[in-house]
Amino acid sequence: MTNTKIIEETIRFVKETLKGAEGGHDWFHIQRVFNNTLLIAKDEKVDVLVVSLAALLHDIADAKFYDGDETVGPKMAADFLSTLQVEKQLIEHVVQIIENISFKSSLDSKKRFSSQELKVVQDADRLDAIGAIGIARAFNYGGYKNRELYNPDIPPNLKMTKEEYKKSKAPSLNHFYEKLLLLKDKMNTDSGKKLAEKRHQFMLEYLEQFFKEWNGNA
Ligand code: ADP
Ligand code: NI
Repeated sequence: MTNTKIIEETIRFVKETLKGAEGGHDWFHIQRVFNNTLLIAKDEKVDVLVVSLAALLHDIADAKFYDGDETVGPKMAADFLSTLQVEKQLIEHVVQIIENISFKSSLDSKKRFSSQELKVVQDADRLDAIGAIGIARAFNYGGYKNRELYNPDIPPNLKMTKEEYKKSKAPSLNHFYEKLLLLKDKMNTDSGKKLAEKRHQFMLEYLEQFFKEWNGNA
């Protein structure tokens, strides 16, 4: 099978799997991450097939929606890729990227796996969590979880453990301080850093205006 055909088949599988997915994790999130991946990959020495497949398959079964089970997604990806008769080594690499891409696994002290391909896809996924799209996704997620937009009596908590973070019922705006504003300093690649800087500035402007309006002086 040609690489183009492999990508086409994967797109078809991902679209089908994500039918009806919540707005922050639907096919269009995957499409944006895929596009960001190709953009960043242009400046990096990486295997384009590996980063493409990892980008397309990285969120097919988000643990948040599978009772915290982080093994479902990688397993589904591996099973799917096996049906395409691609090299075992390639499948292994894609699965390792999916297992290690999340913010939570980057918080783990025992870093299990690293590759330039992982760094590229991780940057691409992080870019979609910040800027205008990132803002939309954060409030969409908060709405899905029935969270408040903002509550001045519940300050952000930067010292939460993984478990506390998962259980936290904090307002959506706290997520900016607990995660989104920290992402620009976690970017791996030069082009990722540049793109993140722009989106970061936009979030700062957004927050400034948000508080002005909240306080009734805008
Ligand atoms: P991804 O899998 O795309 O890396 P996540 O699964 O961590 O991202 O989250 C999906 C989207 O929901 C992201 O844009 C993220 O910022 C947002 N999100 C996750 N947790 C929260 C939260 N506690 N409050 C608001 N938004 C959140
Ligand atoms: Ni994602």
